Amino acid sequence: MSEDLNSADGPDLSSTAGKIRDLQNRYHEAVVASGEAAIAKQHAKGKLTARERIEELLDPGSFVELDEFVRHRTHAFGMDAKRPYGDAVVSGTGTINGRQVAVYAQDFTVFGGSLGEVAGEKIIKVMDLALRIGVPIIGILDSGGARIQEGVVALGKYGEIFRRNTAASGVIPQISIIMGPAAGGAVYSPALTDFVIMVDKTSQMFVTGPDVIKTVTGEDVGMEELGGALTHNTRSGVAHYLAEDEHDALGYARALIGFLPDNNMSDAPAYDADPILETTDEDRELNTLIPDSANQPYDVKTVIEHVVDDGDFLEVQPLFAPNIVIGFGRVEGRPVGIIANQPSQMAGTLNIEAGEKASRFVRFCDAFSIPILTLVDVPGYLPGTDQEWTGVIRRGAKLLYAYAEATVPLVTVILRKAYGGAYIVMGSKQLGADINLAWPTAEIAVMGGQGAVNILYRGEIKNAEAAGQDVNEVRTRLANEYTYNVASPFLAAERGELDGIIEPAATRVSVVKALRTLRTKRASLPQKKHGNIPL
Ligand code: HXC
Repeated sequence: MSEDLNSADGPDLSSTAGKIRDLQNRYHEAVVASGEAAIAKQHAKGKLTARERIEELLDPGSFVELDEFVRHRTHAFGMDAKRPYGDAVVSGTGTINGRQVAVYAQDFTVFGGSLGEVAGEKIIKVMDLALRIGVPIIGILDSGGARIQEGVVALGKYGEIFRRNTAASGVIPQISIIMGPAAGGAVYSPALTDFVIMVDKTSQMFVTGPDVIKTVTGEDVGMEELGGALTHNTRSGVAHYLAEDEHDALGYARALIGFLPDNNMSDAPAYDADPILETTDEDRELNTLIPDSANQPYDVKTVIEHVVDDGDFLEVQPLFAPNIVIGFGRVEGRPVGIIANQPSQMAGTLNIEAGEKASRFVRFCDAFSIPILTLVDVPGYLPGTDQEWTGVIRRGAKLLYAYAEATVPLVTVILRKAYGGAYIVMGSKQLGADINLAWPTAEIAVMGGQGAVNILYRGEIKNAEAAGQDVNEVRTRLANEYTYNVASPFLAAERGELDGIIEPAATRVSVVKALRTLRTKRASLPQKKHGNIPL
């Protein structure tokens, strides 16, 4: 508690010195003492306190706190006996690598980090400030959810936060770092943000907890399995990064901010870079990357690392739908969003998860004017009743919509397979890509050679079988002929559907030049209130 202002020992409030002393006392209680009290409780659980998290996230000494003196005004359930300064959240502004951001961190040591009227108002205020000054907002969540004692008032504040998350979407980057529980409807604020980072073993997100699930459905599931960081990074796709501990999570958030603009009206941070415009030995390594056999996999991240500056690629959602790779790199010092099919996972096929993962990323990059590089090696959509019945038509359409609506510079390089609808969806010229290139190893057709032969040459194969010929040999010969005659990238180049065919070794330099060319791109869409993306 602060000094008793009426006691003889309290500061003399009739003097300036006394008023300053009073401020110092209150500040000590609000910031220093509350921080110290939280340390033991949080550290015992292997967690940092809200203030420690903010200090580590931001540049040293840059944090400017807001609202450290607010207190709740609830009388119910004897709440008036405990009115700590600052309530259950610490908020303010600071810098990351010198760039301004806004931040809030829920404080689990105060009413379980729960969100009542005042904690809600603090979050809303810092969100409004972030929107007004056009800087990213980072929320650190560690909370029991809506403050039970405050009922509908607490629920209402969540509603106001969701509305602001939505208003801020596409205007300022929003990052959520989950560092404890996020239960009930509270999960929907992070869900509305652009990136969700979770800490292994110490963070959970769920709409209904294990007890409710057991009561309603009879299912037995533990908290970690239900909504832990691994679950949301691998199964649900809710999270974008699985941090091994809190330091890793905060480091990833700082790295992410390094690629993002402050807001949708400003440019992403660029560094001076002077790329070599001749083919280097490292570039030439790509000439031997694609195996001679079309069915043999390779790691598309090798291509990405050969294209981006210093091989520095920050992958997003690496554990979910690994058959598509998304993330940020820099080309000539400027951030680029990269989307690439991954032949080493499910042969790089597109499924619902991959489509949704990539579409959200395309829309993020487009909203914040980050050019997109698409690397294509896709044999098609994953076939199966599971995919059809869980909505591959509706959910797969999102990626088409996202590319077709994007107005940022779009550069596409077809590395190997580009078959059927998957060719169109992966940043094809027809969907609006600006510069489309292909390697000589590219195969572009309605379907792969083997599939086409089964349909086009059914008769020949039957005849060969009847004549006692080696059917596999006949099938392979016909498939190779088909691939050479129909799927050759030179046919697409002849029709202008590709702008060029390049040696793999020329990829980095070609991408640098393409992005230079597109730097002044201007494109606009017809006026409308908003489109109706298939959800
Ligand atoms: C008020 C809360 C609280 C809450 C926790 N506390 N959650 N106080 N409102 N929602 C308090 C506890 O009473 C306790 O106070 C302190 O925080 C620490 O909680 P513990 O239970 O001791 O911690 P732990 O064992 O780690 O368990 C954490 C927990 C559990 C899993 C989060 O507290 C829990 O289940 N809380 C309720 C979660 C929930 O159902 N919330 C409502 C969700 S619905 P003392 O004084 O003992 O230290 C919702 C709607 C959002 O949020 C609406 C949006 C549309």
